[in-house]
Amino acid sequence: MDLQIRPISEDEFLPYMRAIDAAFSETASDEDIERERRMAEVDRCFAAFDGPEIVGTAAAFTMPMTVPGAEIEIGFVTMVAVRPTHRRRGVNTALMRRQLDEAHERGEVVEVLHASEGGIYGRYGYGLATYGLSIEIETARSAFVRGSEPAGELRLVPRDAAEKAILAVNEATRLDRPGMVRLDERRLDYMLSHEHGPEKDLPSLFVLHEAADGVDGFAVYKVKHDWPQGWPRSVLTVRDLQAATPQAYADLWRYVLDVDLIERVDSWNRPRTSRSCTCCKSRGACARPSWTTCGFGSSISPAPFVPGDMRPMGVWFSRLPTPSGRGTRVGTRSRRRRERPR
Ligand SMILES: CC(C)(COP(=O)(O)OP(=O)(O)OC[C@H]1O[C@@H](n2cnc3c(N)ncnc32)[C@H](O)[C@@H]1OP(=O)(O)O)[C@@H](O)C(=O)NCCC(=O)NCCS
Repeated sequence: MDLQIRPISEDEFLPYMRAIDAAFSETASDEDIERERRMAEVDRCFAAFDGPEIVGTAAAFTMPMTVPGAEIEIGFVTMVAVRPTHRRRGVNTALMRRQLDEAHERGEVVEVLHASEGGIYGRYGYGLATYGLSIEIETARSAFVRGSEPAGELRLVPRDAAEKAILAVNEATRLDRPGMVRLDERRLDYMLSHEHGPEKDLPSLFVLHEAADGVDGFAVYKVKHDWPQGWPRSVLTVRDLQAATPQAYADLWRYVLDVDLIERVDSWNRPRTSRSCTCCKSRGACARPSWTTCGFGSSISPAPFVPGDMRPMGVWFSRLPTPSGRGTRVGTRSRRRRERPR
């Protein structure tokens, strides 16, 4: 195999995407390809050519990301793929080397990625930077901490109305939490639309939290309907939930847990230090804590970090009855919820 590694040209983007399809056993739709095209920087889309055929890919998106004490431009590594016919012959190793060299030439000090499999990237100099939590909460077993009372207004809005608010919340919060990226319209569109799997075609729903000074939080979620024999066993998946204040954060969690006809609320890649997750895990309602890799090219920068704690949670989750056996009804809906005793 005579391998050539170089950035692609504009008119090689479609075969580039088809090589990624082959590696992930998928077929991107025209819409998917157009979305990727809007986000991609072709000079950062490296391809490995075996003759005329693209057999491997590795790209990076340039993004402003918060690190402790600063916001810097990083390369978000993505589209890492090698055709199944060309695996285990060093194609990815060659691409990773070229990509890190190019990042270094750009003056980037951090490269970040979210690994689909944790075993791949250590050999290239990446290290685990932080953990993400996946949570699954049975709504019937969720409860709110005593004294947590909703405040402000919640509004369900269409996507175009939500976008401006999401950007404003990102602007207000991202510098407080290392690992957050600065969103703009293009990145937000990508974030909201880039999905795989069976839930891809479900519509996203958008809820905003408004306080006296305006919108200070949002949640983006999907509902997967399941009605066996007419009973609702639907699952609500929180795709994102961000807030500028503890009150908004608590109210938004309360909102998603209070949506009727939902048996379970799922979320993944929540901040590791989120108090909701810690409580949830320790009380047994969190079925699947997990970790994700988010790494640095240690050939560039070895310093790991963990995200800061937003410390906003007025919500606890419990699958246990209160020790006293008494509880107070605090839900805003007919579903009974028990307070957790102090
Ligand atoms: C993962 C992938 C990119 C590796 O490409 P590749 O060209 O086969 O990798 P290389 O031949 O350069 O292998 C380099 C090393 O990585 C190891 N490796 C490859 N895939 C691995 C995996 N999934 N898990 C752990 N190690 C892996 C190889 O065994 C080899 O180990 P060695 O250095 O000890 O010999 C390719 O298998 C692929 O496209 N997989 C499907 C898509 C995917 O998972 N992409 C990553 C998204 S984050």
